[in-house]
Amino acid sequence: MSKLVLPPGLGLSLPSLELPCTSEAAAQSTPQVFHVTTPADEIHHTQHTSVYRVDIDVTGEHPRKISAILKTDILSSPRPDKFRHEASMYTELKRLQGHSIPTCFGLFQVSWDGRDVSVLVLEDCGDSIEADIDDLTDEFKAKAMSYAYRLHWLGFEHGDLELRNILNKNGEPFLIDFEHAKPHKCGVKLRVIMGEQNPGEIAFGCRELHRLSSQLLLWARCYVQYDGFNFSRNSISWDNMDGLLRRMEFYIRSDADRERMRNALKPLVAQVEEEREWCGNIDEARRYISMKQMHFEDFDDI
Ligand SMILES: Nc1ncnc2c1ncn2[C@@H]1O[C@H](COP(=O)(O)OP(=O)(O)O)[C@@H](O)[C@H]1O
Ligand SMILES: [Mg+2]
Repeated sequence: MSKLVLPPGLGLSLPSLELPCTSEAAAQSTPQVFHVTTPADEIHHTQHTSVYRVDIDVTGEHPRKISAILKTDILSSPRPDKFRHEASMYTELKRLQGHSIPTCFGLFQVSWDGRDVSVLVLEDCGDSIEADIDDLTDEFKAKAMSYAYRLHWLGFEHGDLELRNILNKNGEPFLIDFEHAKPHKCGVKLRVIMGEQNPGEIAFGCRELHRLSSQLLLWARCYVQYDGFNFSRNSISWDNMDGLLRRMEFYIRSDADRERMRNALKPLVAQVEEEREWCGNIDEARRYISMKQMHFEDFDDI
């Protein structure tokens, strides 16, 4: 059986601990020992979990050094079942490990000082994208979105697919935190086409994927800032010029003012109408997902 060895101290004021592996979520076929060699660098702490970045020496059939993450309840109230659930999701999603979700090196659990301690050991997959959403490339966002499709097509929803649970490892997206993941029969009908107008959750067919696409800002924004005014995209059309001008009424004192503002609005309306036409002309083969594409192997062209 594999085990995790935490040296004394670790910056956590703990004794040396040896934890047996209770779920070999990862690929290792022979027992390995994971020796944590660096002080634990805390990168996240809530009332439920602490997360540390560490270096680990792995001994066994394939000795190596790895940069890893320890996700644990060691400093909070024990939640062994939640950890077991997350580890079982990593096992279910084994084929995605190391690419789109972290490699999971196992769940290690022990009863220490009268309490259950769980430590999930994961590949270090970089930092959350939450604060950098405006700096991400379209390619990165498209990949993150397609990884979420892939998860759904494998029959699971994430359950907490917020930007904080998407990481960036050297330009590659990774989805993490499968504590709330559960089986899901996905009803998604549409692909996400960047720049298209948001088709709405019902037409789209899946709440979690729809929400993620909105959060990644993949669709055209619903509101358009123009000359200090905030217009809803739906209201911007040649037919509604008078309606738009009414929104600016406060600044209109004469017919000349009205004409000047009407002219100022024209480039905006022309641009939004052009985008609308482009979206309306996206052909069905590109827009809709066919049954064939619901198979995992056919997924990569999304
Ligand atoms: N595999 C990982 N690689 C890098 N950072 C991680 C990894 N797993 C977790 N983290 C960091 O720890 C934070 C919390 O982890 P997460 O699994 O989301 O726990 P929680 O259930 O408390 O939200 C993440 O937002 C991320 O910053
Ligand atoms: Mg999280």
